Amino acid sequence: MADSIKTIGILTSGGDAPGMNAAIRAVVRKAISNGIQVKGIKKGYQGLLNEEIIDMTARHVSDTIQRGGTILGTARCQEFVTLEGQQKGAEICRKHGIDGIVVIGGDGSYRGAQALSRQGINTIGIPGTIDLDIACTDYTIGFDTAVNTAMQAIDKVRDTSSSHERCSIIEVMGRNAGFIALWCGVANGAEDILLPETYDFNEQAIINNIISNRKRGKNHHLIINAEGIGHSTSMAKRIEAATGIETRATILGYMQRGGSPTCKDRYYASIMGAYAADLLCSGATNRVVAYRDGKFVDFDIEEALAMKKSIPDYEYMVSKCLAI
Ligand code: ADP
Ligand code: F6P
Repeated sequence: MADSIKTIGILTSGGDAPGMNAAIRAVVRKAISNGIQVKGIKKGYQGLLNEEIIDMTARHVSDTIQRGGTILGTARCQEFVTLEGQQKGAEICRKHGIDGIVVIGGDGSYRGAQALSRQGINTIGIPGTIDLDIACTDYTIGFDTAVNTAMQAIDKVRDTSSSHERCSIIEVMGRNAGFIALWCGVANGAEDILLPETYDFNEQAIINNIISNRKRGKNHHLIINAEGIGHSTSMAKRIEAATGIETRATILGYMQRGGSPTCKDRYYASIMGAYAADLLCSGATNRVVAYRDGKFVDFDIEEALAMKKSIPDYEYMVSKCLAI
């Protein structure tokens, strides 16, 4: 353990995700068991700049592993994107005796962590986003809960869609990435899955598919549309006009980001949180924790941000052929 590290901070940043509390708990408890003090920074980088900093003991994270959201709160902070904001953040860390910070969030939050590291504050990132859109890692905290929440909601829409012999367009989150849409599309047996990475905006092909499926006896037609494509309500109106089949749009929205984390999210968050605390305690900086090829590993933030992630071709092809 690096002798110079005595106190670490922890913050959550960007969109919240189920499992963030399990990660906070693991960072706090692993650091304490390593003999290091922990300070909680509320509301992301904004809370750092506002000096909303509290001492955290093992008891502060009691009864939190099963709770959705983030007990520290989260925010998006424009001031922290500026050099002045980053210098001020580093000064505040020094003032509070914070030698290093664990940042739980997405790519944007990693950029903030990288900036703090350049200002001399050690930083470690943990992937926390429902979108699964962080390239260096096969897993991001919150994704499993979000897809299970969405899958259950879509099953319910499917029931009523079948009863009324309707077409349903269900829009799921994911920002510019289609992972939530792909997973729900496969798991819910959707007839069409529209992903920002692959959709060619050929609405006529969807209309033809709906008509031929109806002729083949299918009594509903489920379209999972990713947020990155959007416009589900206007798409529903056009499809109804073209097919004569009643079509409804449902936008699942923020319900996908809430709720008690699944076992998988709690487990990954716990291991990643402990790993991040160990990295920081050992004096590492500018690294992110990742899960890749079956192992928990870490990467330099620069290297992690340069990586690219795409929808796996085979999985997308399978999703299309299972929908016949
Ligand atoms: P996420 O972390 O989920 O990708 P955002 O992209 O909104 O979410 O980023 C979260 C926060 O990280 C931003 O509000 C900002 O405070 C900080 N951040 C984002 N980009 C940068 C940057 N280039 N430099 C410094 N901080 C950044
Ligand atoms: O990154 C998670 C996410 O929920 C995206 O799926 C969505 O596009 C975005 O955050 C919404 O962010 P906000 O909370 O700022 O509306």
